[in-house]
Amino acid sequence: MKLPDIKIIDEKDKKLREVSKDVQFPLDDNLKKTIQDMITYLEMSQDEKCAKKYNLRAGMGLAMIQVGIPKRIFVIANENEDGTFEEHIIINPTIISESEEMIYVGEGEGCLSINRPVEGIVPRHARIRINYYDLDGNVQNIRVREDISVAFQHEIDHLNGILFIDHIDPKNPYKNKELMREI
Ligand code: NI
Repeated sequence: MKLPDIKIIDEKDKKLREVSKDVQFPLDDNLKKTIQDMITYLEMSQDEKCAKKYNLRAGMGLAMIQVGIPKRIFVIANENEDGTFEEHIIINPTIISESEEMIYVGEGEGCLSINRPVEGIVPRHARIRINYYDLDGNVQNIRVREDISVAFQHEIDHLNGILFIDHIDPKNPYKNKELMREI
């Protein structure tokens, strides 16, 4: 398999701090291709052979601003136990509700734009419900939980120019740990 021709920008690039803009429909073919490339990249990054061959770090989510395009789109591709992928293409999302219960990823979050180890945990809602548009411009609604909920919140942050490191206080990187559930 050939690695898609996308370049993921690093945190040093100020572009990552831009607030992305709402997407207009219909989507043009270039944009659709970029969306597909982003998904392919994520799936290849989770395949051991591909990751080794192309020296990729495994990722399950990418926001379009990470490939330099400030549009409110993100994709998730998460490998299931049977080797298939749970895929989401989310356009112009709005958060409708968030659980009171908070969780954090015990090993810390990762980001394909942050190429260094980061110590600390990020508080996230255990469950969220969002409205969004699909590729055809239809309004959809989805409720996500646990690791997928964390991924959605991480990617929605990207659309607003926020990185996961912004949520970590370097002086107290495990702040409020006892108030949340570890996943
Ligand atoms: Ni990220």
